Amino acid sequence: MMPNYYEFYCPVKIVSGNKALSNLPYEMDQLGAHKALIITDQGVVAAGLLKTVQSVFAGSNCAIGAVFDQTPVDSSNLVCNQVAKIFNEKGCDCLVALGGGSAIDTAKGVNIVVSEKTDDLLKYQGAERIKEPMKPLIVIPTTSGTGSEATLVAVIANVEAKVKMSFTSNKLYPNVAILDPKMLVTMPKKITAATGMDALTHAVEAYVCLQKNPVSDAFAITAIKLVRENLVKAVENGGDEPARLAMANAALCGGIAFSNSLVGIVHSMAHACGGVAHIPHGVANAILLPWGMEYNLDKSAEVIAELAPWLGASVSGSKMDQAKAAIQAVRELSKKLSELSGLPLKLKDAGLKEDQFPQIAKTAINDGTMNYNPKDATIEEVIAILKKAY
Ligand SMILES: NC(=O)c1ccc[n+]([C@@H]2O[C@H](COP(=O)([O-])OP(=O)(O)OC[C@H]3O[C@@H](n4cnc5c(N)ncnc54)[C@H](O)[C@@H]3O)[C@@H](O)[C@H]2O)c1
Ligand SMILES: [Fe+2]
Repeated sequence: MMPNYYEFYCPVKIVSGNKALSNLPYEMDQLGAHKALIITDQGVVAAGLLKTVQSVFAGSNCAIGAVFDQTPVDSSNLVCNQVAKIFNEKGCDCLVALGGGSAIDTAKGVNIVVSEKTDDLLKYQGAERIKEPMKPLIVIPTTSGTGSEATLVAVIANVEAKVKMSFTSNKLYPNVAILDPKMLVTMPKKITAATGMDALTHAVEAYVCLQKNPVSDAFAITAIKLVRENLVKAVENGGDEPARLAMANAALCGGIAFSNSLVGIVHSMAHACGGVAHIPHGVANAILLPWGMEYNLDKSAEVIAELAPWLGASVSGSKMDQAKAAIQAVRELSKKLSELSGLPLKLKDAGLKEDQFPQIAKTAINDGTMNYNPKDATIEEVIAILKKAY
């Protein structure tokens, strides 16, 4: 159904291919920037990817002003405040995020702190709070999941409050996303599987949730198709560069879709599982996606049924039959990924404790993404889903 009104925005330049990384200094130059602060993490450094990035600066008129390589998984406001000081001390003029969602969102958070000249990121939590123009931000994703290279959101932990905070603004879109398969071939199997399911969850939720529109639908369907055709291949053989590049594009398209349509109950619960119990974002989504789809069945069977062919499911029978077949296809994909990579299929196996359910449910119903789910949920209803997924 055509919405009465919608907006769609994506100002990110996409550079995709197996020589894409070599364009980094050129892209900086185009943005008028010449001294980068690279934000990355220890896993990415150990995989040799920082060295690869450093090497492309040789012979260019751009330089690396500083490297912050201590990004924790699920970065916090405190980390962003600390890294912003390094940016200023070293006289950097742009940010390069090298990593998965944690490094990318840290870079977005640092950008807020340096551009707004504030001492604490927390002051900017929420929607459209940013007023100043941002510094140039170039993103080189090393996971294929969050889509943060093409979204308006940064998800950053408030360690004290044990919640994941969202910062959203059109100013948070990166300027350039560089998708290069050589930055992805080192990704371990389980992270490939979990982050790939995050990409799928973005696409499915973007397609099903209340703010869907025809343009984001197109990106969501492309993402689902690319995940279906390439995720198992990328897990089976990490060195499969075409599959890696396709998954990078799947994550990007999922990000573009949900940045405009938002997500729903699966992400509400996954954010809560991350904030309360430190379950990795992709793992939580992988486990919860079929249960969230099932929860929405009575409101959204027709829309979920439209996804059946793209998920490789049966398109015969009633709309409800087709929607159930789509959910079954998601379950089968997770099962296959679990066999190949050890991806947990149950919250229990991901380390959740039953006594954490009430806090997770309370956090989930207060998560902003819940507003976009086709069907409201109470604490009791979320606990019932968590029990099923346990
Ligand atoms: N801003 C958004 O649009 C958005 C959307 C969804 C999720 N998120 C956030 O993103 C974060 C999760 O990001 P993620 O799932 O990409 O994981 P991540 O960035 O936390 O990385 C997971 C692990 O994988 C390692 N790793 C990453 N790339 C590697 C590579 N190529 N080779 C070897 N090791 C590699 C890292 O070192 C890290 O230990 C969460 O905080 C989540 O809330 C943000
Ligand atoms: Fe996500």
